[in-house]
Amino acid sequence: MRRLAADYTGFFHWLHERWGDIVYFEMPNGRHCAVFDADLAEEVLTREPLRFQKDSPEFAFEVIQSPGLARTPFGEDHGRLTDLMVTAFTSERIAAFRRIAVSEASSFADRLAAGSTVDFRAEIERFTWDALTTTILGTGRELGPGPGLAMMRAAKLGFVVFAAPGYRLIRKLPLPHDLKARRTIRPLDEAVYDAIRDARDADSRGTSVLAHLVQATERGESDWSFSSDSEIRDEAYVVFVGAWDPAVHAMAYAPYYLSRNPETRARLEEEVDRVAGDRPLRAEDLERLPYAEAVYKELLRLQPPAPLLVPRRAVRDTSLGGYFIPKGTLVEVVPHVMHRRADYWRDGEAFRPERWLEGHACPRGGYMPFGAEPRDCKGIPLAMAVSVSGLAGLARKWRLEPESDELPADGLEVGLLSGPIRTRVVPRTPGGR
Ligand code: HEM
Repeated sequence: MRRLAADYTGFFHWLHERWGDIVYFEMPNGRHCAVFDADLAEEVLTREPLRFQKDSPEFAFEVIQSPGLARTPFGEDHGRLTDLMVTAFTSERIAAFRRIAVSEASSFADRLAAGSTVDFRAEIERFTWDALTTTILGTGRELGPGPGLAMMRAAKLGFVVFAAPGYRLIRKLPLPHDLKARRTIRPLDEAVYDAIRDARDADSRGTSVLAHLVQATERGESDWSFSSDSEIRDEAYVVFVGAWDPAVHAMAYAPYYLSRNPETRARLEEEVDRVAGDRPLRAEDLERLPYAEAVYKELLRLQPPAPLLVPRRAVRDTSLGGYFIPKGTLVEVVPHVMHRRADYWRDGEAFRPERWLEGHACPRGGYMPFGAEPRDCKGIPLAMAVSVSGLAGLARKWRLEPESDELPADGLEVGLLSGPIRTRVVPRTPGGR
């Protein structure tokens, strides 16, 4: 517990180095098994979902009451909810999401002032929050990140409580962070219910994720139906939690890696300049930025927003990799280790986006920042649109220089980070573009 608390990801690297590809360990909240091998990971995640079920997290997080897509057990309901979510990403909607992401990215870049020092974590939180609230709820709902931050802190504290002895008892208590979160998120609740009402309007032409959830279920275009508006609201919250936190996480490391790799940074700037010329970035440009996409994939490789995937619980006594796994064991697949293994990657510790353009970057299954089917991420097109726009929008104008040489620290804030990331905003050309 001490080692885990001191260095969360380091703990799992240590387990792998010391004991190999599959390691059993015990914690106050039960039996655990960490998996670091791509084939074993595939067996746990993909091949037999009825042997290992994604654990429905019983975090002390009372803000979301209904299970939603992320917590519904694998089976028919999960299949219906998956179909509902993935059909949100039609080419028309993806195009609309890209327009929003690019416009938010350029507002983000314009907000920064030459020569200033900013907290990059707070900046990236705001940019991703603005882009996600607009794509998820629709335009015209100005909402600062305050309610989202309260929601995320409650969820993150829930993780800590979950690992503590007696967590079932603790989660029944009226915990101050939950009570505070419930109060602080009210404006978000109002915006979500408002968006639900708007989506019901017969003339609504909204392209938001929420408009899709409402319209597809109510117009009979989906096999899933919500039993109440609060269930729709909860599904929107599942998307907020699932989308915002990871979107912040990988982007927050961009200045650290780009400032240490000037050739990569120059290549990124050169690509963005070549594609956009002297005009502002446009949504269609995102398809012509393979290097920016490779930079993002490399950030996701070295700093996966889910360093461990959501645990899978063994639903019966079973075996894995030749070892007995007792029923109830939580099996944890660890991308943070797999993404750097020396036997999977050439220069695994190096930040080298080129690997994604050279093909055969890694063996099948060794890279899983978005998890693996059937319970993989359902928002990849939106995640890519927001993140690549953010990288490209910044690269057009600024070079961001972190004040500290240290890697941004893990913690409990949004994006699993802690504390500010003080960063100098240096214009690429005198006075900025
Ligand atoms: C950088 C952005 C993102 C990353 C890295 C990411 C990553 C992930 C990961 C690792 C999982 C869990 C996989 C597992 O434990 O096996 C997941 C699940 C999920 N993600 Fe994302 N995600 C991102 C953005 C989004 C967005 C924008 C949405 C919006 C729709 C979204 C919706 C979901 C949902 C609904 C699930 C649960 C799926 C299920 O349990 O069947 N995510 N995501």
